[in-house]
Amino acid sequence: MSLVALCSAKGSPGTTTVSLLLARELARRLGRTGGVCLLDADPDGGDVAVRLGLDPVPGAGTLALAGRHGIDDGLLLAHSQRTTTLPGVAVVAGISGRAQQATLDWLVRPLADAAVRSPLQLVVDLGRIAAGGPASVLLERAGEVLVVCRSDTASVVHTRSALIRLRAQGIAARAVVAARDDRVAEEVSMALGHPVAGVVPLGHGGPFDFAGPRLPVASLRAEDRALQRAIGGLAAFVLGQAPALVTPQVAITEHAPDAVRLAAGRLHRPEGEEP
Ligand SMILES: Nc1ncnc2c1ncn2[C@@H]1O[C@H](COP(=O)(O)OP(=O)(O)OP(=O)(O)O)[C@@H](O)[C@H]1O
Ligand SMILES: [Mg+2]
Repeated sequence: MSLVALCSAKGSPGTTTVSLLLARELARRLGRTGGVCLLDADPDGGDVAVRLGLDPVPGAGTLALAGRHGIDDGLLLAHSQRTTTLPGVAVVAGISGRAQQATLDWLVRPLADAAVRSPLQLVVDLGRIAAGGPASVLLERAGEVLVVCRSDTASVVHTRSALIRLRAQGIAARAVVAARDDRVAEEVSMALGHPVAGVVPLGHGGPFDFAGPRLPVASLRAEDRALQRAIGGLAAFVLGQAPALVTPQVAITEHAPDAVRLAAGRLHRPEGEEP
């Protein structure tokens, strides 16, 4: 199995949204050749099930109880749910809140072990990651780690710290930027000192502003074609069929704060304003 882990450094940049869209697109591309499993492992409490209108159980809680000594595909699928909104995706609902966080801590190691053996494509929404947190074991086994961020200065700076921390752990993560304009990719990549795997366009309300069983992707409109294209590009990257959107020429480390400040400052400047 190939495991793609999605996470964020701070804020709510759109990790769950990208996870949902990516899982759906991977299932579409893999077709009958393989199944996709989307697992909500957000320690703050998952919202994948809520957004899909699924029940909170079975899910990560029941899976952790049943599988603390080992997980295989059968068990993973037995604790998942199906929805016509995400055809071909087995969805493992998340925990309800921080009070159940220990449940996820039990789950990560057997899940990381299972990830190596299973033919399933696993997409895991890890929510916000903390340094040295229990998610580290999953991040280390992931085929791809995607840190979702926005293009504003604060998000870029926090994401950059997270990427540097991950790199120190030997984890080569890439950023996914949710932004109005995909032309920010180069500057964000430069400021982060890390590749940007893709830019997901920010919608103008509509399809993202929902609370209930209907996932916005079910009702893609003409203006959402850019979103579909972006997710297609991201899926191709995850499947190893395309390179990252942008790879920085110079890897910026914590020893180059001026360069980062400069780049981040440019990102922050209102459109049209000259440097
Ligand atoms: N590309 C986008 N365009 C417009 N709105 C978006 C986009 N992605 C996410 N949003 C909106 O931003 C909010 C946060 O999105 P989401 O829940 O996916 O973020 P998150 O990073 O998973 O947050 P959290 O860490 O709190 O779980 C939601 O209201 C969502 O509808
Ligand atoms: Mg989320």
